[in-house]
Amino acid sequence: MNLPDAAATLAFGRELGLAAQAGEVIALVGDLGAGKTTLTQGLVAGLGYKEEVTSPTFSLVQEYVGGRLDVFHFDFYRVEDEHELLDLGWDDYLDRQGLVIVEWPTLHPDLLPKNTRWLKLSHGGKGRVVEED
Ligand SMILES: Nc1ncnc2c1ncn2[C@@H]1O[C@H](COP(=O)(O)OP(=O)(O)O)[C@@H](O)[C@H]1O
Ligand SMILES: [Mg+2]
Repeated sequence: MNLPDAAATLAFGRELGLAAQAGEVIALVGDLGAGKTTLTQGLVAGLGYKEEVTSPTFSLVQEYVGGRLDVFHFDFYRVEDEHELLDLGWDDYLDRQGLVIVEWPTLHPDLLPKNTRWLKLSHGGKGRVVEED
């Protein structure tokens, strides 16, 4: 699907948020600037949260709780060893029946469960393209 501008990425994220089911895991593949955090912003807004969404690069995870579904937003970019995530309680996050969303999932693909939805964002002209794997 073509996402001609950032508003389209936000709108697509909102749709994902509205449709999201408890226990869903979404892996967002794409280079720097591909729109992963923007899509997550839309998704978090779609679940009714008013908070600003920033990349969880330094905290590893940002949590949005209390809405229809809790959202756990991970960024694997600076995770050197998957034990950092396991120590943080990765398995518990998967068990919490919220929505887990992961930027840079291909850096630690073994952590993603089988039911993960893989979405790939790429640059397309001035806009972006999103594809489901
Ligand atoms: N569909 C789009 N078309 C054009 N620009 C976009 C689109 N989606 C997002 N952007 C812009 O691209 C930039 C990088 O987006 P960001 O979500 O931070 O990327 P990532 O998290 O993948 O590094 C932001 O300025 C954002 O507004
Ligand atoms: Mg990002």
